Amino acid sequence: MNMNRNTIMTLVTSLVLFSIPFASTKFVKLLCKDEHNSLVGQQSLLECNVKAENNDTTITGICWKRKTTENEQQCLLDYNEGNTSLTPGFTFAEPDWNNRNLNVSLLLTNTKMEDKGEYECVVRTDRGHAEATVSLSVTVSINLDCKNEYHGVHGKQVLLECIVKPVNGVDINILAVKWKIKGNVTLLEYKKPNTSAIPGFTFAEPDWNNINLNVSLLLTNTTMEDEGEYECELETDLGTAKIRVNLSVTGSKIADSTKDNSPSITNRALQATGSKAVHLSINESH
Ligand SMILES: *[C@@H]1O[C@H](CO)[C@@H](O)[C@H](O)[C@H]1NC(C)=O
Ligand SMILES: *[C@@H]1O[C@H](CO)[C@@H](O)[C@H](O)[C@H]1NC(C)=O
Ligand SMILES: *[C@@H]1O[C@H](CO)[C@@H](O)[C@H](O)[C@H]1NC(C)=O
Ligand SMILES: *[C@@H]1O[C@H](CO)[C@@H](O)[C@H](O)[C@H]1NC(C)=O
Ligand SMILES: *[C@@H]1O[C@H](CO)[C@@H](O)[C@H](O)[C@H]1NC(C)=O
Ligand SMILES: *[C@@H]1O[C@H](CO)[C@@H](O)[C@H](O)[C@H]1NC(C)=O
Ligand SMILES: *[C@@H]1O[C@H](CO)[C@@H](O)[C@H](O)[C@H]1NC(C)=O
Ligand SMILES: *[C@@H]1O[C@H](CO)[C@@H](O)[C@H](O)[C@H]1NC(C)=O
Repeated sequence: MNMNRNTIMTLVTSLVLFSIPFASTKFVKLLCKDEHNSLVGQQSLLECNVKAENNDTTITGICWKRKTTENEQQCLLDYNEGNTSLTPGFTFAEPDWNNRNLNVSLLLTNTKMEDKGEYECVVRTDRGHAEATVSLSVTVSINLDCKNEYHGVHGKQVLLECIVKPVNGVDINILAVKWKIKGNVTLLEYKKPNTSAIPGFTFAEPDWNNINLNVSLLLTNTTMEDEGEYECELETDLGTAKIRVNLSVTGSKIADSTKDNSPSITNRALQATGSKAVHLSINESH
């Protein structure tokens, strides 16, 4: 009696073991685009489509999950015989998806840096099951936000304002900043963890550190020779950026006496910027 039951159990187990690979290769396939590239803050589509011999195939289950070293992890998108549960930020790519829709693509509504990696999709249908793996790489675009033109006055301070703009509040670590003039003269350089500068040039931010995205350059005592094209090169843990800006310099006395009323407004605005910067530089030295 016991022997008999064991024999039957073994037979059933064998049938199950053999029937799944058979069904999955013969009747149902999951075809995916292997690799996807995305930007932080954008949507990502991980595209997978079920290919079945019968066009009336019904999907009974879907599990999209991240492949991690941890054994068990919950599905980001879980469909099980009519019930759907979604992790926030993950959904069906097909609006109004239903169980006859063989496009089981996953949509990440707002991609984050930590979303990069391998994803696994397992699909069960009434004709068998199939699975596939896709990989998602995520990058971030880094911009340096500056004006094209800056104007300074001889003998005054001038601020070349440049701000690092990563998208959507990504944490960013600055590895290097280099301010140069005329293509090859380095004025200010930060190369983690050291800062060096030639006299008269400094980070505008007092106590600047490498998570401060305000990488503006301050000229503490502008001279006519400082006029020209400046270049700011940035290196971060997520990418690099480079930008050029121009500085024109006028002699303060000459500008005040020879120019008419409208440019003198500009001069007063500049002097206001200058005095604000003087205040900051006092903060810095104490
Ligand atoms: C399935 O295919 C048959 C023959 O190609 C067609 O007549 C039928 O309308 C199709 N059914 C669906 C649900 O697409
Ligand atoms: C679907 O959800 C309902 C209500 O939560 C539950 O009773 C039922 O067992 C679920 N069905 C499946 C197949 O998980
Ligand atoms: C699957 O659905 C997505 C979202 O609607 C769409 O962009 C994609 O082209 C579809 N794929 C196929 C093969 O239809
Ligand atoms: C910069 O380049 C110019 C010519 O392009 C050269 O005369 C000058 O010596 C260079 N300066 C430095 C610091 O390399
Ligand atoms: C930083 O400065 C220290 C001391 O001058 C030096 O030993 C080190 O090599 C510098 N690091 C870099 C990355 O330049
Ligand atoms: C950048 O820093 C300078 C100096 O502290 C300041 O004047 C300027 O307003 C800052 N810019 C931004 C956008 O915070
Ligand atoms: C600025 O530089 C000039 C020489 O170019 C010097 O005479 C003047 O004292 C300096 N001003 C300050 C505030 O350092
Ligand atoms: C700076 O000025 C030079 C010469 O006038 C010009 O060729 C260059 O395009 C300007 N750069 C920027 C960033 O406006």
